[in-house]
Amino acid sequence: MSTKAVHIGVIGLGTVGTGTVRILQENADTIRRRVGVPVLIKAMADLDTKKDRGLQLSGISLTTDAHEVIKDPAIDIVVELIGGYRPAKEFILEAFKHKKHVVTANKALLAVHGEELYIAAESAGVSIGFEAAVAGGIPILRSLRDGLAANDIASIFGIVNGTCNYILTMMTSEGRQFEEVISEAQARGYAEADPTFDIDGVDSAHKLAILTMLAFGTPVPFDDIYTEGISRITPLDIDFAGELGYKIKLLAITKMVDGEVEARVHPTMLPASYPIATVDGVYNALSVVGDAVGSTLFSGRGVGDMPTGSAVVGDIMDISRDILAGCAGRIPVTAFRERAVLPVRKMDDITSCYYLRFSAIDKPGVMSRISGVLGKNNISISSVIQKDRRVAEAVPVVMMTHEAVERDVRTALAEIDKLDCVAGSTMVIRVEEGKQG
Ligand code: HSE
Repeated sequence: MSTKAVHIGVIGLGTVGTGTVRILQENADTIRRRVGVPVLIKAMADLDTKKDRGLQLSGISLTTDAHEVIKDPAIDIVVELIGGYRPAKEFILEAFKHKKHVVTANKALLAVHGEELYIAAESAGVSIGFEAAVAGGIPILRSLRDGLAANDIASIFGIVNGTCNYILTMMTSEGRQFEEVISEAQARGYAEADPTFDIDGVDSAHKLAILTMLAFGTPVPFDDIYTEGISRITPLDIDFAGELGYKIKLLAITKMVDGEVEARVHPTMLPASYPIATVDGVYNALSVVGDAVGSTLFSGRGVGDMPTGSAVVGDIMDISRDILAGCAGRIPVTAFRERAVLPVRKMDDITSCYYLRFSAIDKPGVMSRISGVLGKNNISISSVIQKDRRVAEAVPVVMMTHEAVERDVRTALAEIDKLDCVAGSTMVIRVEEGKQG
């Protein structure tokens, strides 16, 4: 083993970049002992080189030009932490061209351009690590690739967006409206100034694309992931859910069903007794069901400089060990040496149980008209709640269904929402009763 040290170049000194550098410096001794040689930061690039980030900079060159880091022949691993599509993608491809390994936390880039990047890394004979892209500090990607590799994965249910979990938790515990809670979350730094990607489910869908690939060894076109956010959820629905024994979580779901892959993100009602339903606040959690292992549950912090930095540094150490052993790519980056392109199930074809909250005009015959349309569309009702909780002229009527096909539910609701005894569109929340961790 002739390598005396592994040298790192970091591009982007935002929250995650700063956490990464701090961990590499503060835990340098443990990292050296675990890897066998020191893992040293050689250079860092950021557009702002003046800001005091409280980091120890001696012996590190600091530049505004990322290309200097990428081209530096002494650097073994380039860490891309600027996020976004461009210029991050160009930086990574350029790093591969210079035979550098790459570590990134860039979920949006991987969800959309992952295939191109994995192929480029493989052809260059280098590694790309991206544990930090999904669920921050939870080592879920490594677990799928490695610890759970013996399993045919049946499903993954993930709470992978801390902002949404925090908002739903606050709405549940304090009975407050979505708009109030989001403003407070922003004020407390738990939500971005522009939280659109989080609350619309896009951030979760990015992470789901990566999870699905690792679970089933298939690429999933990002646009094929059904994505619905949490902004329509009301305290009334959370109350009804509680009364029925459920909690509402924004779930990223992937399943293998009859040879097709389901990949969808939407608010989901889960039995409150399920372990994943008890993970609240900014925490993330993933329940992975494998045929051999059964249900597993992973939980931990999904955001923050140190948890996400922990994942980045874990990847850096993994690649450092490969460098020392001269065996980059021993575990395929996409978890499968032989990959497949599996069909993604259309949302219309999925089956689920449903929570339907109608805004019904409180007069005789309403219930039978609604249930008539449901019955005509093969939708069977499992329970009904109607209370005198008047919202203007209408009264909420909640029906829980047995398993039904999404297409049938949409057809039925299109007809029901036009009935003169129904005011406004029906609230639909999918309900998961399957095997969970
Ligand atoms: N914005 C994300 C969240 C964290 O709220 O979980 C980064 O993936």
